[in-house]
Amino acid sequence: MNEKLEAARRNLNDAETGGIAAEDYTVPDMGEYVLMPGNPRRISLMAAQWDEGTQKEYDLNRGYRAATGEYKGTHIAAMSTGMGGPNLELPLTTMASVGVNTFIRVGTTGAIQPGINIGDIIINDSSVRLDGTSRQYIRDEYPSAASYEVTMALVQACENLGFTYHVGTGCTTASFYAGQSRPSFGGYKRSDCEDDYRDMQAAGILNYDMEGAALFTMARLFGLRAGMCASVIVQRVTGEAREDGGEKRACMVGAEAIRLLTEWDKKKKAAGKKYLSADMMK
Ligand code: URA
Repeated sequence: MNEKLEAARRNLNDAETGGIAAEDYTVPDMGEYVLMPGNPRRISLMAAQWDEGTQKEYDLNRGYRAATGEYKGTHIAAMSTGMGGPNLELPLTTMASVGVNTFIRVGTTGAIQPGINIGDIIINDSSVRLDGTSRQYIRDEYPSAASYEVTMALVQACENLGFTYHVGTGCTTASFYAGQSRPSFGGYKRSDCEDDYRDMQAAGILNYDMEGAALFTMARLFGLRAGMCASVIVQRVTGEAREDGGEKRACMVGAEAIRLLTEWDKKKKAAGKKYLSADMMK
């Protein structure tokens, strides 16, 4: 990190940033690991699953929400990102500036492959970059990849909790309707609207979301870790759409993954290693 440039970025005055001063978007004691739901209401859902009496919730500028607390005795925090890459950039960069180094998006998603059911958890280890935001950071050929350590923690969390999950590449779009091959207002459709959907399906892409690629790309560029889990609320192949408790399950997966990463990182440090290996996960 270039400390001088980072200090200058942080010192941008309110007039330049439109009131996005760091203190408006951070809370005391964020720690190093943060869950990132899109929906600000999911912050309370998450906090309710943490250790009784440890939770603190915060309402921040522009509708962002945050919480800190403990989960099974491990420090935990969460900050909402809003919808889409542009909304996520602000909490991501601000939290990074106060020392957060591990980000786990906990979202909802639309599955586009058969065999994935409503309420299942999808863990994206990579994303197609149709998010719009990431291409303003780096050319399109740069990959959007999650941290293997965070991905492993999410997989192990699903195993520990006994939840059904799928791991693979998602597609992050900058639009919920046209971007995900849905008719928009008044039935408006681009002529090649359906082609994108079919191409993604043929390529084995598991799901659509609106934040994953921006998070993975920025985190990788900043030298930070990111991962993502999401509950399936839409199954595009069968046309089903419903929330069946998957949102709560995804929040539990995120919390359990932070507990595991905290444990594994201690082992990594004790062993003097830079990278997590399978031995350290035991
Ligand atoms: N989020 C999305 O981006 N798409 C869906 O279909 C459901 C949730």
